[in-house]
Amino acid sequence: MARFTLPRDLYHGKGALEALKSLQGKRAMICVGGGSMKKFGFLDRAVQYLKEAGMEVELFEGIEPDPSVETVMKGAEAMLRFEPDWIVAMGGGSPIDAAKAMWIKYEYPECTFEDMCKVFGIPTLRRKAHFCAIPSTSGTATEVTAFSIITDYSKGIKYPIADFEITPDVAIVDPDLAETMPKKLVAHTGMDAMTHAVEAYVSTANCDYTDPLALHAIKMIQNNLVVSYSGDMDARAKMHNAQCLAGMAFSNALLGIVHSMAHKTGAAFADYGAHIIHGAANAMYLPKVIAFNAKDETAKKRYGVIADEMGLGGANDEEKVALLIAYLRKMSDELNIPHCIKNYGADSYPCEQGFVPEEVFLARLPEIAKNAIADACTGSNPRQPSQEEMEKLLLACYYDREIDF
Ligand SMILES: NC(=O)c1ccc[n+]([C@@H]2O[C@H](COP(=O)([O-])OP(=O)(O)OC[C@H]3O[C@@H](n4cnc5c(N)ncnc54)[C@H](O)[C@@H]3O)[C@@H](O)[C@H]2O)c1
Ligand SMILES: [Zn+2]
Repeated sequence: MARFTLPRDLYHGKGALEALKSLQGKRAMICVGGGSMKKFGFLDRAVQYLKEAGMEVELFEGIEPDPSVETVMKGAEAMLRFEPDWIVAMGGGSPIDAAKAMWIKYEYPECTFEDMCKVFGIPTLRRKAHFCAIPSTSGTATEVTAFSIITDYSKGIKYPIADFEITPDVAIVDPDLAETMPKKLVAHTGMDAMTHAVEAYVSTANCDYTDPLALHAIKMIQNNLVVSYSGDMDARAKMHNAQCLAGMAFSNALLGIVHSMAHKTGAAFADYGAHIIHGAANAMYLPKVIAFNAKDETAKKRYGVIADEMGLGGANDEEKVALLIAYLRKMSDELNIPHCIKNYGADSYPCEQGFVPEEVFLARLPEIAKNAIADACTGSNPRQPSQEEMEKLLLACYYDREIDF
C-alpha cells in the first residue's frame, strides 16, 4: 500500500493571502524570517486578515536561513506560552521548516530533536494546533510537503524531518509574495524545484499520482525559470505554481542522492565563512547524479522520458540523458550558478577559486560521503552508492569531473 497526502486546502493566485480571513480559531502565531515579509508589507496584511478572522495574533520573528535546533526550541517555548491553535508560517523554506519542527515540540514538549528525526516517527499532531504555510520563495514547496530541514550546527549537518503528520493543513500560494525575490534567490530556489521534480520522477517510490505532477513541473520550470530570473513577473507567478507541483510530487515520491549530498555539504564548510546554498548545491550535483543513476536501466529510461517531455531530441536513451545533462548545465550558466564546488564563491557566484579549500574538502570527504549515504533521501534513489562511489561522486562535484562509473 502507498499513501498520497497533500494539504486539505490550497489557495492560489494573486491576492490569495486574503484566504487567511477564512481560518477559524482563537489564537494564531505567525512565524517569519529576518524581515523581508515585514519590509514588503505582507506581515502586516497577514496580521490584519487574522484579526479580521477574530483571532489574537502573536509573532515569532527572526528565524534565520537554514534554521538551527536552538531556534526550533525557542519557538516551541513561545508557542507553549501563547498556546496558539493556528501556526501560520510565512516566508522562505527556512521559517516554514522551523515552524513545522516547533509545532512538533509544542504538541509534544518531551520530544527531543533526535526523536523528531526518526523517519515517519512523529506522533499524531493537531491536538493543539493546525498549520498554515505561505511561501515567499519558489523552490522548497515546504507548504505542501511532509518535510522540514533543520541544521545541527554543532555537527555541521542538515537533518530532514519526514512525516505526513507535518504536511500543512492549509497552503497559500500567492505569487505576489514571490515578486520581491532578488535574482539570486530566484535562481537558487528555481533549481531546487527542478531537482525536486527530476528526483521525484526517477525515485524508486514514484507512482501514477506523482509522475504527472513531476513532469508538468519540469516543463513549467524549463519554460519559466530563466524568464523569471530576467524579471518577467508572469513567469515568476508560473514558477510559484511549478515549484508547488514539484513539491506535491516529491513529498509523496521522495527524493534522491542529489538532496543527500546537498544536505551533507551545505553547512559542512560553514567554518570557512559561507554555506553552499541548497538550490545551488542541487544545481551543481544534479547533472553528476543523473549520469551516475543512468547506469540503472529503469532510471535511464525515465530520464529519457523527461528529455522527450522537454523536447530535447536524441535518438536513444543514452543521447537523451546526455542532452538532459547539457540542458541543465546551460540553465545553470544562464542563472549564474557555478558547475562545481571548486568554483563556488562565498557569494555563490562562479569564480576561479571558491571558498571551500581543496585540502579541507579532501580531508572531510570520507565523513561527508558517509553522512550522505545515511541521509533519509538516499533510500529512494534509483542506484544505491557504495562509500567509494559516493566519494567519487562528491569528488566529481568538487572538480566538475565526468562520471564514468
Ligand atoms: N521542507 C522541504 O521540503 C524542503 C525542501 C527543500 C529545501 N528545504 C530547506 O529550505 C531552506 C531554504 O529555503 P529557501 O530556499 O526558501 O530560502 P530561505 O527561507 O532560507 O530564505 C533565503 C533568504 O531569502 C529571503 N527571502 C525570502 N523570501 C523573500 C522574498 N519574497 N523577497 C525577498 N527576500 C526573501 C529570506 O529573508 C532569507 O534571507 C534550506 O534550509 C533547505 O534545506 C526544505
Ligand atoms: Zn530541495
